Amino acid sequence: EHDILKWKNDFFECLTLQYRKSNSETDSIYNPKNVSYSSVLKSTIRNLRPESISGQIPLVTITPVYESEIQAAIYCSKKLGIQLKVRSGGHDYEGLSYISKTPFVIVDMRNFRLISVDKEKNTAWVQTGAILGELYYTIAENSKTLAFTAGTCPTVGVGGHFSGGGYGMMSRKHSIASDHIIDAKLIDANGRIHDRKSMGEDLFWAIRGGGGTSFGIVVAFKVKLIVIPETVTVFNVTRTLEQNETQIVHRWQYVADNIDENLLLRLFLRSINSSGKRTIGAFFTSLYLGPVDDLLPIMQEKFPELALVKQDCIEMPWIESTVFFAGFQGQSLDILLNRTGVSVFFKGKSDYVKQPIPENGLKSIWKFLNKEDANRAELQFSPYGGRMNDFSESETPFPHRAGNIFMIHYSVVWSKEENADSVRHISWIRGLYSFMARYVSKSPRAAYFNYRDLDIGMNKNEVNPSYKQASVWGFKYFKNNFKRLVHVKSEVDPTNFYRNEQSVPPLSPW
Ligand code: FDA
Repeated sequence: EHDILKWKNDFFECLTLQYRKSNSETDSIYNPKNVSYSSVLKSTIRNLRPESISGQIPLVTITPVYESEIQAAIYCSKKLGIQLKVRSGGHDYEGLSYISKTPFVIVDMRNFRLISVDKEKNTAWVQTGAILGELYYTIAENSKTLAFTAGTCPTVGVGGHFSGGGYGMMSRKHSIASDHIIDAKLIDANGRIHDRKSMGEDLFWAIRGGGGTSFGIVVAFKVKLIVIPETVTVFNVTRTLEQNETQIVHRWQYVADNIDENLLLRLFLRSINSSGKRTIGAFFTSLYLGPVDDLLPIMQEKFPELALVKQDCIEMPWIESTVFFAGFQGQSLDILLNRTGVSVFFKGKSDYVKQPIPENGLKSIWKFLNKEDANRAELQFSPYGGRMNDFSESETPFPHRAGNIFMIHYSVVWSKEENADSVRHISWIRGLYSFMARYVSKSPRAAYFNYRDLDIGMNKNEVNPSYKQASVWGFKYFKNNFKRLVHVKSEVDPTNFYRNEQSVPPLSPW
């Protein structure tokens, strides 16, 4: 307790001094003495589960306005030997941007959220504290035919999302966010500011899918925007067990990754109550980059089993589709700028499927879903194929390319009042994951880094992590790219300043 207090004071003093030297305001430092401390800390915590387990709160939270303030935080945290964590949107599944076992400080990037679009060159500089909704909104303000390919939840932060991948509704046509990064501004472990040229191609490669955390603090990314038609078509069609669902979902697996790449047929599976009866709902949530009259013949030819009709479809500009997929259909575009997301308790996991799951396998999944309370648990099947296949496994650290039909995202959600039952929910999801081993990728059983899951392995000793231990989770997220990530880490941060439970370890020099 005494040490914590001392650390807190020492850090605060050091930072204040550094800020003064660079003529910065001290308003952006929050320590537990500030009234707003708790609200700043909690405002972007999306998953309350890690927080409820850890109990550790940061000594100080910094919301820098200038780069010099970030440099000051790096300097003080190094000098005092205190761990530094960086947070952009706070959506980390295991809360690694806002909890720690050891005393730590948070550099929260919320004030770094400038977005500047160059519509002549189809590029944009995006600071990492911006959220996806702000990015989509700003692009649409500038152009009707430019867009960006990234996730569906508007409150997700650019910092974590872009550096770890970034899958969304246009990923079959345009791949993932990290594939479109063309430059970056990063502060290294010595507080030096780099662009692509000065950081070198190895480090630039690493932060496009290998996560920012292990390598530095990314202040901004420059991305290539994509060109889209003025009209897109969306639909959300539900089928239940009473409507041939099992056969339709089974068939979907033969279509989803090779249908026209303008079309992304995402599938959500939940146990629901329908007309007073428990059943499984299959929600086909889809985006077609074009008008409905072009979409219907494609569906008729390739996936007639879904029996899609024109009345199921809505045509709209792309920007409205981002509101639709965020679950705010019909609301004004301003909703994209709302940074106050919903916080719940949840556990998520991921898998990759290379061979269609047989019908009896699907039926077993339905049984699992029915063991949880209705609407609490969900499987998302996100199709791959298309442009995702155009990249080799090693082109970026994100290795999930040709050969994957779809990615599974498993999740279970509960509220604060239900937290006493968290053990039951977590063992449910682990049970399902263990059952699914027979249907998914093997050696390694691949996982998506942005759906962080500490169950698949973690560094027990964060300060001096073992390569062998880190390989357990590292090869699952990055396959063979893990070796190159370790090499880059050893070059740019040999003392392992930037670290967490799943950061890439440097090779020890001895
Ligand atoms: P957060 O701030 O928690 O950071 C995540 C990690 O990145 C932490 O380790 C952090 O230290 C590090 N980091 C953050 N900013 C950094 C910076 N500037 N420099 C260096 N390191 C930095 N994914 C997807 O692909 N498609 C989707 O549609 C969705 N949807 C979605 C919805 C919801 C509700 C959640 C909770 C999550 C998703 N995700 C997702 C997953 C999401 O991509 C993932 O959690 C991202 O890492 C979140 O980035 P944030 O910046 O918000 O998180």
